[in-house]
Amino acid sequence: MSGTAAQGPRLRPSLDGIPTYKPGKPAGADAFKLSSNENPYEPLPGVLEAALAAAGSFNRYPDMAVTELTAELAQRFGVPAEHISTGPGSVGVAQSLVCATAGPGDEVIFAWRSFEAYPIIVQVAGATPVPVPLTATEEHDLDAMLAAITPRTRLIFVCNPNNPTGATIHRAELERFLDAVPSDILVVVDEAYREFIRDERVPDGVELYRERPNVCVLRTFSKAYGLAGLRVGFAIAHEEVATALRKTALPFGVSQLAQDAAVASLRAEEALMERVEALVAERTRVLAALAAQGWTAVESQANFVWLRLGERTLDFAALCAASGVIVRPFAGEGVRVSIGEVAGNDLFLAAAEAFRKELLAG
Ligand SMILES: Cc1ncc(COP(=O)(O)O)c(C=O)c1O
Repeated sequence: MSGTAAQGPRLRPSLDGIPTYKPGKPAGADAFKLSSNENPYEPLPGVLEAALAAAGSFNRYPDMAVTELTAELAQRFGVPAEHISTGPGSVGVAQSLVCATAGPGDEVIFAWRSFEAYPIIVQVAGATPVPVPLTATEEHDLDAMLAAITPRTRLIFVCNPNNPTGATIHRAELERFLDAVPSDILVVVDEAYREFIRDERVPDGVELYRERPNVCVLRTFSKAYGLAGLRVGFAIAHEEVATALRKTALPFGVSQLAQDAAVASLRAEEALMERVEALVAERTRVLAALAAQGWTAVESQANFVWLRLGERTLDFAALCAASGVIVRPFAGEGVRVSIGEVAGNDLFLAAAEAFRKELLAG
């Protein structure tokens, strides 16, 4: 052997600054996991059967073109099949989008705080993240995001509703923003929580994409459709971008189980949307209870709520954990709590009330 035996493989120095993605804490057997914005309902029988049937052939590679799902989605959204690009979760598609547009020296703008994966996938691509702070009311600061555009900007993420705050951008504001972004910059409207929106002022990204070649929409089967563990999401993008995505995507990134379960979910949409409706009703109940306790929470349009707790964030998360609810703390900032089963939501509300009383007493 030659060389220095102690030296390990040389890794890219740019990885040093990248935080590792923190998944929501797993809950113990007797705790409710409200930390990952998952759908608390178990798979629908028809969807489970479709996945189990596909499991019988997992010695084979899946259909690389994800043909059936792509065709169903194209029909559902009234877009050409060539405009759909699927991937292993919408985070997988987001990574392919960054990889298709930005490399070393290029910049990617996003609001902050927003979805944790954005700065990670940007840095993995070797590009520079440009986080733009949210406003005091937890909203995207679209003017500041416009001001952050430079000749190096290649992509802008707009998360609507925003994770972890649940705040939304309304139609007129978003259209004004899109009209002001130079047409050679890709704007990705991340609508992971689209199905939970009930505020009609929030635009459907697919409508915005139709008229704008530089706009693409990200959607997922992980949240409303309850397939988080199977990993399937998709982009709707104009042909040039969608074609680039087919180059940068991981080959065979969507398993046959995932594809078949997603197709079965689209066909079982009515039953799934009833579950979404129940979660939206729970969100309304949780937000009303928090307001009655004296909290100021964003009128979330997603399947979670956000409490800005600053320095008390970790204390609050610890109290929740002791009460049997695992929430998602962002130290020094706030806590995101997914809307789950009624019993879990009740435990969270009881913890929130106890914390508030203690705060007032202190
Ligand atoms: C805003 C946003 N985008 C994308 C994702 C990724 O979801 P998935 O990769 O499961 O589709 C998430 C997940 O939490 C999210 O909050």
